[in-house]
Amino acid sequence: MNLLFPPLSDAASGGMEKLLPAIDAAFPLKQRFLRELPKNVARLSSLLTKERAGLNCGYMSDPVLLNAYLRYFLPWNVFRLSRLLPSLSLDAVSFDMALGRAGAPAGAVEIVDLGSGPLTLPIAFWIALPELRAVPLRFICVDQSDAALNAGKKLFSELTARDGMVENTENTENAKNCVWQIKTRRAAIGERLLINFAASASLVCAVNVCNEMFQKIPQADTESLSAAAQKFSKLLLDLAGGTGRILVLEPGAPRPAQFLHFMRKALIDQGCGIEAPCFAPDKCPMRGGRRGHKWCHFNVDTNDAPAALHKLSAKALLPKEKVTLSFLLAAKKFRKKAAGRLLNARVISDAFLLPENKLGRYACSEEGLTLIRGNRALVEKYRQGSSFQVERPSMMPRDAKSGAVILNLEDAALAINN
Ligand SMILES: C[S@@+](CC[C@H](N)C(=O)[O-])C[C@H]1O[C@@H](n2cnc3c(N)ncnc32)[C@H](O)[C@@H]1O
Repeated sequence: MNLLFPPLSDAASGGMEKLLPAIDAAFPLKQRFLRELPKNVARLSSLLTKERAGLNCGYMSDPVLLNAYLRYFLPWNVFRLSRLLPSLSLDAVSFDMALGRAGAPAGAVEIVDLGSGPLTLPIAFWIALPELRAVPLRFICVDQSDAALNAGKKLFSELTARDGMVENTENTENAKNCVWQIKTRRAAIGERLLINFAASASLVCAVNVCNEMFQKIPQADTESLSAAAQKFSKLLLDLAGGTGRILVLEPGAPRPAQFLHFMRKALIDQGCGIEAPCFAPDKCPMRGGRRGHKWCHFNVDTNDAPAALHKLSAKALLPKEKVTLSFLLAAKKFRKKAAGRLLNARVISDAFLLPENKLGRYACSEEGLTLIRGNRALVEKYRQGSSFQVERPSMMPRDAKSGAVILNLEDAALAINN
């Protein structure tokens, strides 16, 4: 069984522990502001969720709200990314391959991050993928807020310095040069991006930005949301090199998941393959949007998040026992898999009780929505997000209630390949 959200490695855990002290050192707060921090975090959270319609795009340029973002939203977003990135094969090997294949400028792998804010994505890469620290990555971070980008640059320098690295060529006795380059660009992302990019990025990312960009589209207007998803997909694809990949991640709520559903369709229509999380993207049963529709999202436990972050969250009355997310990883170049002897599936729900004292979970498999069922001990092993392979059963009955095909894990004929 392959976990989609493995626990943080020791190195990533250490990196997360360093993050909050690095934030405190880069942006020291007077006692009075520290006392008011939980209140400001709660205010920003309400603005970003319940009061979205009234959200002023300039919230990142308000020093009080930016501080709340840096101390609460940024670390939780880094944590969410850090639990996901290691399972996406964005490792040195795949980037080395991309280097050769994408025709990127020699010596650098380009990663474009749209709506980068305070550089959450490069910070998560630094923490979660330490094996990439020796690979010359060039991040191009785009956001409409200079204040957020500048804060991110300052924080990134503080963090790398704590790991004994400096960002420029002036080597000191104890510090090594960091081979990563971080370029920031202030720009508004619209139908076009008025910036001269070489279309050669190995990876183009948009993390927690789509929901904000498309919040003005009325809830019921799915046509406009779908059109926006098509245009945004095209923009991302235009920035990617020939073998580039696209990573879009959003909070795990019905509306952003619906946007990702439309993006998945648009990316497939534009010739891309979906690498994760789907095994049968053209049979997607998770449209999201309207009440009653299942939406594609994952819940991730927060047991390994830093204690100081849990403490601040509790003080702001926003405790986090889990974080939720929806995401999509697409590739411009991919090999279409033919249906074979084995069936691939990914678990997409918590366990629930079924008749005859059995447990069930929903999964997405190459057959579409799939109900996996079995005894408690067996089904509990299948964690949300994990993927597995089984011998493809010759017959798969359908569940009358959900329409899902049923995969009986206790069936002795299934050689479970994990
Ligand atoms: C919720 S923050 C996410 C920041 C970061 N990616 C993260 O995950 O923590 C959304 C960011 O998108 C930026 N943003 C929103 N709409 C934008 C647009 N049309 N053009 C450029 N940046 C935009 C905001 O300034 C903000 O920094």
